[in-house]
Amino acid sequence: MTILVTGGAGYIGSHFVRYLERKKIEFVIVDNFSTGHKKFVKNKKFFELDLKDPEEIRVNLQDLDITSIVHFAGLSIVSDSQKMEKEYYENNVLASMNLAKFAVEKKIRKFIYSSSAAVYGIPKEIPIKENHPTKPINNYGKNKLEVENLLKDLSMEFPLDVVCLRYFNAAGADDDGDLGEEHNPETHLIPNVINSALNSSEFTVNGDTYNTDDGTCIRDFIHVNDLASAHLLSLSFLDSNKGFHVFNLGSETGFSIMEVINECQELLQTKVNFRVGTKRDGDPDILIADNKKSVNKLNWRLEKNSLKAIISSAIKYHKNVL
Ligand SMILES: NC(=O)c1ccc[n+]([C@@H]2O[C@H](COP(=O)([O-])OP(=O)(O)OC[C@H]3O[C@@H](n4cnc5c(N)ncnc54)[C@H](O)[C@@H]3O)[C@@H](O)[C@H]2O)c1
Repeated sequence: MTILVTGGAGYIGSHFVRYLERKKIEFVIVDNFSTGHKKFVKNKKFFELDLKDPEEIRVNLQDLDITSIVHFAGLSIVSDSQKMEKEYYENNVLASMNLAKFAVEKKIRKFIYSSSAAVYGIPKEIPIKENHPTKPINNYGKNKLEVENLLKDLSMEFPLDVVCLRYFNAAGADDDGDLGEEHNPETHLIPNVINSALNSSEFTVNGDTYNTDDGTCIRDFIHVNDLASAHLLSLSFLDSNKGFHVFNLGSETGFSIMEVINECQELLQTKVNFRVGTKRDGDPDILIADNKKSVNKLNWRLEKNSLKAIISSAIKYHKNVL
């Protein structure tokens, strides 16, 4: 069994690859290194290719004995998706279509897709269940939903079985301290707060007028290693479940931005110098997953389900590498 891992040089993909290595499962990575890192694929089997080009996919991958695909590759900065609509559509939707067509042609039956809580838009109910209406409010979320729908259509027409995993906020880093979150620019909360604390730079909180106890928005953080395990469980799930499936990957616990800042201050024993900026348009007050479907049907168990575990692992990476 060889798993094709797209985006394996990125943050979540590289942690999934590490998980496969520990389980001694064969894999091959593809990445165009647009946001990923060569150091994350060092000494691993990888192809540098762009999924936007179907010919590159075919030429490089057609002779490999691939049994399943785990598709992480994509661009994921929400504000960029608003400014660069065409680029995001091509990179996230058309490239995914190329990959799915390749899967159908090669009769690769199992396909796991990195979707996002962004497909839900403004939640009507918290925690958010998988059957919550999907009304994305930005192009990034629309792209994710378009790919989900495409995969659903293909799974009805062809022998392609699909799991779409809707991640909430991926965070943290591997315990070995050599893999972690390193985006440029970094738009994610925890690495930015750590960075501000360690470099004494100013951190901007995006608004304190949300409808929450301390006025900052509440998000559901899920450790990247717990995300990794869910992907392998999803592949096993498809052994006995055909067709198209969606699962939330979140912790069912929400933390406000201020709670994250306080935990970082406590763990680092340093003050975070922050100022309050403007609230982002359309940003929901609270996003928390209902994860019961994943827990019950995938047998998913969260092993690093505390804010302290998540932030301390991120700090370890930050201090080691950045
Ligand atoms: N990080 C999160 O909190 C989060 C939340 C929800 C969903 N997601 C989704 O999970 C996936 C992985 O996220 P991440 O944080 O690891 O992102 P990342 O940017 O760190 O990794 C994405 C990887 O895909 C590669 N890539 C992008 N476009 C490509 C293309 N056309 N061809 C080949 N390779 C390409 C990049 O070089 C990079 O290595 C993305 O699809 C993202 O939208 C992430």
